[in-house]
Parts: sequence; structure tokens; C-alpha cells
Amino acid sequence: MDIIPIKYVHDSLLVLDQTRLPNEVVWFSISTRDELYEAIKSLRVRGAPAIGVAAALGIAICAREYAEEEFTSFYEHFCEDKAYINSSRPTAVNLSWALERMAACVRKCKDLPVSEIKKVLLAEATAVRQEDEDGCRMLGEHGLTLLRPGMGILTHCNAGALATARYGTALSPLYIGHEQGYDFKVYADETRPLLQGARLTAFELSEAGIDVTLICDNMASLVMKQGRIDAVLVGCDRMAANGDGANKIGTSALAILAKEYDIPFYMFVPTSTIDLATPDGSGIEIELRPGSEITDLWYEKPMAPAGIKTYNPAFDVTEAKHITAVVTEQGIARPPYTESLKIMIDKANAK
Ligand code: MRU
Repeated sequence: MDIIPIKYVHDSLLVLDQTRLPNEVVWFSISTRDELYEAIKSLRVRGAPAIGVAAALGIAICAREYAEEEFTSFYEHFCEDKAYINSSRPTAVNLSWALERMAACVRKCKDLPVSEIKKVLLAEATAVRQEDEDGCRMLGEHGLTLLRPGMGILTHCNAGALATARYGTALSPLYIGHEQGYDFKVYADETRPLLQGARLTAFELSEAGIDVTLICDNMASLVMKQGRIDAVLVGCDRMAANGDGANKIGTSALAILAKEYDIPFYMFVPTSTIDLATPDGSGIEIELRPGSEITDLWYEKPMAPAGIKTYNPAFDVTEAKHITAVVTEQGIARPPYTESLKIMIDKANAK
């Protein structure tokens, strides 16, 4: 199965609702800023690159309906929507990256009639989607050079096709390797509390015919110790200039365990996810989500005492020192990341 979760067809933005998977495959359309905000906040569309792609296409579609005919008021309206949409989730930098790229596109067109700017915005958003798809394919090609046939792979959350325009980041080399008969044995952490590993990673890998085994998050240490894991592959929501990378809560524990068991830990990071303006991981805002996701969400009855205190951070930061290599669409960055990530960004900007 080839999953393309965000589509712009017949002038509409169509998104696969990830909250309904794996039981139902439901598509919905987004045509207003409130629909876009809700879809991102509620994780109908999720995964850093997919959020960026949806935001770019979504704001272009909103702007198409603006009544303003004069540049200054059109741009003010655009900036209001941009700020609102950007407030939907704080950690994945692809959201602000994509919205800022769209704003820069408006500014560049300031001498064109507003009707033309609207067309240019749609073309730019379509390019954001296509570049993400092409970049993910390159991430997969580079990532595959780190792997060998038959390897045991551990992954966390969902960094697959569902989280991107196509192919995924950390799962992209698994798809490409599978095409070439690599026969990986993949272990997917269920990823408490929102179960992206169970609902999404296990779904998309098994649909593709890849050997995938679902485990609970607290089993990772055991499967590593038993020698079942040869490499850990994960995605990233925001990587700071020094190589500290925020990803789904639980990722940093895997990196620390991988070091103990001498297993390489690879983070897959498109250059759109690298935030050179943030010097290190301490500057990355961690999203806090409702405690009911821990106590009630998947249960028929509440599974904790009523009124219990909860703490539900959605991401953690893996320190650069625990990351063996960072795979980008421009190539593989190795420590010291302060230098190698800059080289990757320069390569991306040169194209
Ligand atoms: O809360 P989510 O599901 O949006 O979190 C997603 C992740 O943590 C992914 O690993 C990350 O976005 C990289 S996806 C290619």
C-alpha cells in the first residue's frame, strides 16, 4: 500500500484522518482556518512534516477566499491566520517553517495583483508537498546505506508515510529496503499515551507487507538485551543547532538504552526540521497535553482514580551525544553536529 495522506485535488485539500486509523479509513476536507487548526491540534493530521505540508496547503486555501483586494490588508489578514494556525501545536518546527515560507512568498509578490498572489501561494504550497515527498525518498536512500538485510529495527511513534507527504522519514529506508528484498524485522513501540506506534506504524508497515512486531514501550530494554535490535530509527520534530532532537515522549530513553547495549541510534531529520535559531534542546518548547489521554482515552472505564494528578508531556529531547548519526535528505550528518547540520542546511539552500 502506498500512503499519501495529504492531497490537493480538484481545488480541495483532502486529509486522511489519523485519529480513525487503523479501524476506519476516513478522508476529510479542510477549507477554513478553524478546520485546519482543529485538524492539527486534535492530531487528525500529525507528524512534523505532514503538519508543515497541511499548514502550507491549508493557508493557501484560506487565502484564496480573502475579500481584500489591496496588498497591505491582504497581507495583514494572512499574518493573522498564520499566527492562529501556528499556535495549534508548539514543538514541531515544520509548522512555523512552512507558514513562514508561505509568508515570505506573499512578501515577494507584493507588486502583483492579489488575484495573482493567491495563485502563486497555491503553487508554493504544492511545491512544499512535493519537496517533502522527494526529500523523504532521499532520506530513505541515505538511511538504507546504514542498514543491512535481515536487521532487527526498533522504531518509536510513527515516522512513516502517514507523518509526511509520502514514504516517511525513519520508515522510508524500510520501504525502500523492502522493495529490494532486505527482509527487516521491525519492532514498533506502541507509544503511550496516544499509541501512534500501535495504531499507525503497525498499520502502515503491515499493510506494506513488512515484518512488524508490536511491543509495549517498557519492553524496549528487554528486546535490546535479547539481541533482537541492530539499529534504532526514529523521526524528529525539531532539531536544535547542536543536534539535540525533540521527538515523541520516550525517544530519549531509547537513545540512552541503545548506548548501553551498543546499538546505533539514528535520527531521521529533513532539513525543514532543523532549527538553527535554537542553540540547544533546552530552548525547545515541549507540548503539554490533557491528562485524560493517560487516564481515560483508550479505556472503557477510567483507569486511574478520579481527580488523580497527571503530567503528560508529548515530547522529550534526545541529547546530541546519544545520536549516532542524523539522516537528512542532503546526506548523513555525524558529530560534531554544530558543524555538520549547518553543512546540510547550506546544501539545501543552494538548490
Ligand atoms: O504527536 P505526533 O504524533 O505529531 O508526534 C510525531 C512524532 O513524534 C514523530 O516521530 C515526528 O513528527 C517525526 S515524523 C516523520
